Amino acid sequence: MSFDRTIKIAPSILSADFANFGQEIQAIEAQGADWVHVDVMDGHFVPNLTFGPPAVKAFRPHVKTVMDVHLMIAPVDPYIQAYADAGADILTAHIEAGPHTHRTMQAIRAAGMKAGVALNPGTPAEAVEHLLDLTDLVCVMTVNPGFGGQKFIDMTSKVRKLRQMIGDRPVHIEIDGGVDPKTAPLVAAAGADVLVAGSAVFKGGSVESSGVYGDNIRAVRAAAESAV
Ligand code: DX5
Ligand code: ZN
Repeated sequence: MSFDRTIKIAPSILSADFANFGQEIQAIEAQGADWVHVDVMDGHFVPNLTFGPPAVKAFRPHVKTVMDVHLMIAPVDPYIQAYADAGADILTAHIEAGPHTHRTMQAIRAAGMKAGVALNPGTPAEAVEHLLDLTDLVCVMTVNPGFGGQKFIDMTSKVRKLRQMIGDRPVHIEIDGGVDPKTAPLVAAAGADVLVAGSAVFKGGSVESSGVYGDNIRAVRAAAESAV
């Protein structure tokens, strides 16, 4: 995985057909997805439950791009090796998930993955300032995590601040929640390069009519690129 700041679209399979993940992943990649975003929820850190390591391992052979695994779980550390074994390329943990995110970032990298840190909307940019040399990605949540299809919360000033703090470091800024062709330009202009989109990519499409996924991905990408 080489580093660059071009706009990358990462569809969240939280909005896919849960009975058909293999084909859904193949469809979004064929239609131009840059990364595949996998939302792991534990019913404790967030009020919803999704994928454990065996499910993520089953997705792996279908993902030819980058498997971007977003952990919305607490604690994180006991599960790092299991998600490494499941084949995650990037493993992102929330700064709010425990007192030792610094150690968590080291452990994710030691397990051979890229390390991401996510911030809830109520958490300031400064919370990750001392993690930036241990981190490959900062995920700015633009909804309160737990569900797809929520309304975008404007975090542009946080993104701008992070972009400044990151400077020349090879650290991605990822935006997660409520990204669509209307909101994408705001965050792209502020310095984000990875845009997660669930409902905006999957809406109106299916494995059978996957061209809609392509139209949706192109619409988000074009909107974002026009603002950079
Ligand atoms: C929210 C998840 C997001 C979500 C995005 O807890 O982390 O990845 O699936 O979905 P949309 O794009 O529908 O807001
Ligand atoms: Zn996510």
